[in-house]
Amino acid sequence: MALHSYSHAQPAFFVRDIPVYGDLILSPMAGFSDLPFRLICRELGSAMSYTEFVPAEAVLYGVEKTLRMLKFDPVEYPMTFQFFGSDEDKLEAAARRLEELGAHIVDLNMGCSVKNVAGRGAGAGLLREPDKIGRIFRRLTKAVSVPVTGKIRLGWDDDSRNYRAVARVLEDNGASLIAVHGRTKAQAYSGAADWDAIAEVKQAVKIPVVGNGDVRAVADIDRIRQHTGCDAVMVGRAAIGNPWIFQRRDRGQVTPADQAAMVRRHLALMLDFYGRARGLILFRKHVVKYVKGVYGASDLHQRMMTCEEADDFIGLIVEWEARGWQPSDSPSTDETNPRLSFSRAHP
Ligand SMILES: Cc1cc2nc3c(=O)[nH]c(=O)nc-3n(C[C@H](O)[C@H](O)[C@H](O)COP(=O)(O)O)c2cc1C
Repeated sequence: MALHSYSHAQPAFFVRDIPVYGDLILSPMAGFSDLPFRLICRELGSAMSYTEFVPAEAVLYGVEKTLRMLKFDPVEYPMTFQFFGSDEDKLEAAARRLEELGAHIVDLNMGCSVKNVAGRGAGAGLLREPDKIGRIFRRLTKAVSVPVTGKIRLGWDDDSRNYRAVARVLEDNGASLIAVHGRTKAQAYSGAADWDAIAEVKQAVKIPVVGNGDVRAVADIDRIRQHTGCDAVMVGRAAIGNPWIFQRRDRGQVTPADQAAMVRRHLALMLDFYGRARGLILFRKHVVKYVKGVYGASDLHQRMMTCEEADDFIGLIVEWEARGWQPSDSPSTDETNPRLSFSRAHP
C-alpha cells in the first residue's frame, strides 16, 4: 500500500494535527468516490479520502443508503466525511453524528452547483452568506473534536467572487483546510478553472489550501502547484478511468494488461460492495472511461455497457486481455457528458 511506503517520509501537510503523506487527493464525487474507487485511488497514491457528499438530514435520520456511503476501510486514514445542508442546527447535529460514525475529518460542501442543493442555500448557496459560513464553522468546530474543513468554489457568480473573504472567514472560525474548485457556481463546469484565484486563497490564509479544477494529466499536477503554491492537488474527473494519475502516470503509460487487470479488480470491489446486480450496473460509468481511448475496442465497449451478468462481463475482460488492445495516449475526456468533460484546456 502507498500508505506504508510513505511511513518514513515527511508529511506533505497537516490537517490540524493529522499528517497527510502525499499531495494528491481524489476529489469527492457523487456517484464515483465510493469505497471501491477510493480504495483503488489510495493504493495508487491518493493521500487522503473524501466520501461523496451526504445530506445532513439523511445523516440525522440514519438513511441506509447514506450510511453505506460513509463506510470506509481502515487503510483510508485520514477519512473525511463530506456533508451538505443549510440549516445550522441540523448541520451541527449531523457533524456530531459523523464524528460518532468514525470520521477523522468532517468537511462541509460549499461548492455543489446543482439547483436543488445550491438553490436551497446549501452547497455553493452558502457562498452568498459568508456570515452564516462563519457561524456554522464556529459551531461545528466546537461541536466535534475532529478537524473541520471546507470545500468551496470562487463565489456564486462573476459579480460575487468572494473567495478571499470566504477563505478568511473559514480560517477565522476554526477551519483546518480549504479545498478550492477554481470556478463560480454560475460556471458549473464551463470555462477554465481560475488558478490565479486559487493562488490568492493560498496567499490569504495560513491553513492548508488544496487546489482543484482542470487537472487533466500528470503534467498539470506540477503546473497547478507551481501556479498556485497550494499544499495539495485534488483530482476529480481525470481520475475516472485513469486512477494511475495518482501514481503520476497518464493513461498512455499504462499497459493494456494493467488496464484490463484494473477493470477486473475494480469490478470485483464493486460486486462485493454493492452486490452482483447493482455492482455491475454502477460499474458501467467507470467502464466507459476505462475503455475510452483503447483503440479498436468499440465493439468491446458496446458489449460491456449492455452486459447484464457479472460472469459474462468477466468473459469480456478475458477477451480484452487476449486481444491486447493498444491504449491511446489521449487524455480521457467525454464530450457527450458535460459534467465529465473538460471544455477547454487550461492556459
Ligand atoms: C460527477 C461529479 C460529482 C461530484 N460530486 C461532488 C461532491 O459530492 N462533493 C464535492 O465537493 N464536489 C463534487 N464534485 C466536484 C469535484 O469534486 C471537483 O471539484 C470538480 O469536478 C473539479 O475538479 P476536476 O476538474 O478535477 O474534475 C463532483 C464532480 C463531478 C464531475
